[in-house]
Amino acid sequence: MNAALRAVVRASIYYNVEVFGIFRGYEGMIEGDFQPLNVRSVANIIQRGGTILKSARSEEFKTTEGREQAYKHLKSNEIDGLIAIGGDGSFTGLHKLHEEYGLPCICVPGTIDNDIYGTDYTIGYDTATNTAVEAIDKIRDTALSHNRLFFIEVMGRNSGSIAVNSGIAGGAVSIIIPEVETSIDELVAKINQGVDKRKASSLVVVAEGSKMGSAMEIAEKVKEHTSYFEIKVTILGHLQRGGSPTYFDRVLASKMGVAAVEFIVDGKTDSMVGTVNGKMVCNKFDDVMHQKHAIDEEDLRIAKILSI
Ligand code: F6P
Repeated sequence: MNAALRAVVRASIYYNVEVFGIFRGYEGMIEGDFQPLNVRSVANIIQRGGTILKSARSEEFKTTEGREQAYKHLKSNEIDGLIAIGGDGSFTGLHKLHEEYGLPCICVPGTIDNDIYGTDYTIGYDTATNTAVEAIDKIRDTALSHNRLFFIEVMGRNSGSIAVNSGIAGGAVSIIIPEVETSIDELVAKINQGVDKRKASSLVVVAEGSKMGSAMEIAEKVKEHTSYFEIKVTILGHLQRGGSPTYFDRVLASKMGVAAVEFIVDGKTDSMVGTVNGKMVCNKFDDVMHQKHAIDEEDLRIAKILSI
């Protein structure tokens, strides 16, 4: 997010557009927490996780009164265009503001979940997935030394993107995701197939949104049916949301930040920046909000082939 913010600020200045930062998202917009930003305000942040602008979920912004209050502050600060970095909550808010006040607005997709239609990648996803893979590699050392079965839960809300790709990269025997129906019986069969082949350890990656329950619940159900001496569960949690971004995320965020400014300067509005096949595209909010980002079938096929 910091890399995207840096790109938005610098591209704005490059195009002679004055730029303000709004702190704590919509909460700060309602309270008038605005500050002018210049080239130096965003120096030394490209490598930092989190966001220097801070972030907040705002219940008040969901109300007409909240948005009215926010618009008053935007007007008094002479703001005539908005760029937000975030996920579907941020888009919905911006779309509403555009509908009610006609303010030009563009969103930059920032979420580790990679669950947004209209873009192959969202900012943060690559970093989070790399963190998950690093953790899985470390867990594998224990699994292998002690002949254990590990269930590793990764984030992603209702999306299995982090799970699928960290599962492939981490060599998981099975990957449980919300998008694909599977049963305890199937999972047990898969694990036991490994036991029969004298596999010394097994790793199962579980997406937090799995319809079969949490990693802990799944491990409990599987326990009775395998001959693994010990079963362990690790929940990676918020580890995946922090840390210095990968090169991929920094470059993606830089390109998206510049594209957002160029789109708004060109008169585009009510839209989200996306990357499709390596090119920056401009998607209407209506499309983004009403369609689902599908899991890549090819990734699922590869995971299946490699986990025999
Ligand atoms: O949407 C991003 C995400 O990190 C999800 O993967 C996760 O379920 C959620 O946010 C965690 O949110 P919080 O930090 O509010 O618990």
